Amino acid sequence: MNNDNTSKTGLIEDEKHWQSQAQLVNWFTNPTQTLSTNNIGWYDWFADGELNTSYLALDYHIEQGRGEQTALIYDSPVTGNKLTFSYLELKEQVAKFADVLRAQDVSKGDRVLIYMPMIPQAAIAMLACARLGAVHSVVFGGFAANELAVRIDDAKPKAVVSASCGIEISKVIPYKPLLDQAIDIASHKPSNCIIYQRPELEASLVAGRDHNWQDLFDVAVEIPPVPVKSTDPLYILYTSGTTGKPKGVVRDNGGHAVAMLYSMKNVYGMETGDTFWAASDVGWVVGHSYIVYAPLMAGCSTILYEGKPIKTPDAGAFWRVCAEYKVNALFSAPTAFRAIAKEDPDGKLIKDYDLSHLKRLYLAGERLDPATYYWLQEKTNLPVIDHWWQTETGWAIASTPLSKETGEYQPLPTKAGSAGFPVKGFNVEILDAQGKQVAAGQQGTVAIKLPMPPGCLATIYNDVDRFQSGYLNAYPGYYVTGDGGFIDDDGYLFIMGRTDDVINVAGHRLSTGEMEEVLAEHSAVAECAVVGIHCELKGQVPLGLVVIKNGIEASDEALAKELKQKIRDDIGAIASLKDLLIIERLPKTRSGKILRKTLRQMIDGQQIDIPSTIDDPEVIKELSAKFKQDKLTPA
Ligand code: COA
Ligand code: AMP
Repeated sequence: MNNDNTSKTGLIEDEKHWQSQAQLVNWFTNPTQTLSTNNIGWYDWFADGELNTSYLALDYHIEQGRGEQTALIYDSPVTGNKLTFSYLELKEQVAKFADVLRAQDVSKGDRVLIYMPMIPQAAIAMLACARLGAVHSVVFGGFAANELAVRIDDAKPKAVVSASCGIEISKVIPYKPLLDQAIDIASHKPSNCIIYQRPELEASLVAGRDHNWQDLFDVAVEIPPVPVKSTDPLYILYTSGTTGKPKGVVRDNGGHAVAMLYSMKNVYGMETGDTFWAASDVGWVVGHSYIVYAPLMAGCSTILYEGKPIKTPDAGAFWRVCAEYKVNALFSAPTAFRAIAKEDPDGKLIKDYDLSHLKRLYLAGERLDPATYYWLQEKTNLPVIDHWWQTETGWAIASTPLSKETGEYQPLPTKAGSAGFPVKGFNVEILDAQGKQVAAGQQGTVAIKLPMPPGCLATIYNDVDRFQSGYLNAYPGYYVTGDGGFIDDDGYLFIMGRTDDVINVAGHRLSTGEMEEVLAEHSAVAECAVVGIHCELKGQVPLGLVVIKNGIEASDEALAKELKQKIRDDIGAIASLKDLLIIERLPKTRSGKILRKTLRQMIDGQQIDIPSTIDDPEVIKELSAKFKQDKLTPA
């Protein structure tokens, strides 16, 4: 790894900036170091500081006299339940659940896997791990048993915290059988599972291994926060890479705390006592940072919403929640607003609610398409801010700066299709294949010049080599984001999409490489490719293209159905692989590499780049005819 630039321009100034931001954190031991390099050649922030993230999110506010203020609001249109927790009440729940974990032999540094729907117990379990210095790894509820098993084997959790079921629009999803199946598949066997029983569907418990959350909680006592080092891990969050094995992004405690506090004020314009709503899921990074940690650390009220933007019960659901809890800033994915705009194109339902407290809308997870940007601006009359970030960074790399000249936070003018400007600490550059910066307006690889600011990934769990080869080796001195884009003449950054085998489906990050691995395991499949294609609602959806082995008797239709089910069973419903074509052959180079980019261009109706190394150009004609016949290509 090349650290040459640590001594170059800007760094001293940046260090001073973060040093002063760190003073806003109530450390147990104040750091004397700001930025240093560690034994893997990466950066540590505030290495000799000591703190506890659960203390900062809860106890600290009680000490400041905010104990009675609402900390967490749970709103669940799918069950009809609504609950609020003051800082005092949430601290009691967290401190007792930390004791529950401790009684199951969980201590500092141990991993705890959390597989939960959007219920307060998910946030309580996360904060309880943080209180003990244990490392949580939350797995999104939409993932299937196999995905869970892969994460269990990588993180090797001492305990698992789960619930009997999740509730989707009109169905109850039993979580416990998925967990049981995952533990069967995994080589690592967690010794304790703590199950929160929901009345909608109770789960049966395995004697000796499983415990009822409530039984353990009833005999627990509140325990104090355990001091941890700034660089000790707070959590591991698995995210899709280009292969079947997800990457365990490791987040530290100290840098994270500084970044969370900084972003609440400077990216979102939130002050203590404000209400912030990230309509996402605790299984994603947005949920970690902006449902749980940042709003609580900043002394805001946060909302945990167990519902959808539409159909729970209608496209007015988001506006209802904003009005009911006087939400000051709302953050969600463009796909959620596309769904709302589709059901309520004239925004009639918006008018049913008092949105006078709502100041700004924030969008991320995928590029905010101009049509949705204009729709939101016109219908809500609010600033609409697209901001770009990743699981790896944990907070926004680019957004629109706010100023507070008139007593009210005001964003700079935004531009449709742009994610704004690099946020303080992120030195974003657009590079060509040789690693040279390109001119304004030219597309290239979006890279961040090292060092990155506090809060970004510390490493990939169990895999330093992958951390270095996946992000750092391509352009020495830079972190490669995996996104392509450009900066225009006015300095606005446009993120145009992934340059690797990762796709964003409804704001959810998925690996096409992983889907290919799942399809290729089927005995009838000779070879296959999965590419992301444009979808009006979800932004992108995967399309499977499969070549079947000779001599297979089953019909194409039956095989396609079986393969789609296999993706659902092995990865989860969230993969949304609804289109799968059986084809004669795939376009390849002479060395056998599948031309995925060419396939994507054909399906999206773009100009096709056919590489000179293509094995047989005829295959392009064959496939064009097939895509036309199956109405996959634009007319
Ligand atoms: N647990 C179990 N299953 C889940 C799940 C969860 N937490 N979340 C989604 N699923 C299932 C859904 O039930 C659905 O299953 P189905 O194919 O059997 O119907 C499948 O996964 C796909 O779900 P989803 O992508 O949510 O599609 P949808 O058609 O049900 O809903 C939207 C469409 C637009 C309403 C929905 O995608 C949405 O709310 N998007 C916003 C996403 C978001 O907030 N992203 C956060 C990033 S910041
Ligand atoms: P995740 O790690 O799940 O948060 O996904 C990160 C990826 O989502 C990024 O690398 C981008 O490809 C995409 N993404 C997130 N926010 C935006 C945005 N505002 N504009 C464009 N792409 C985005």
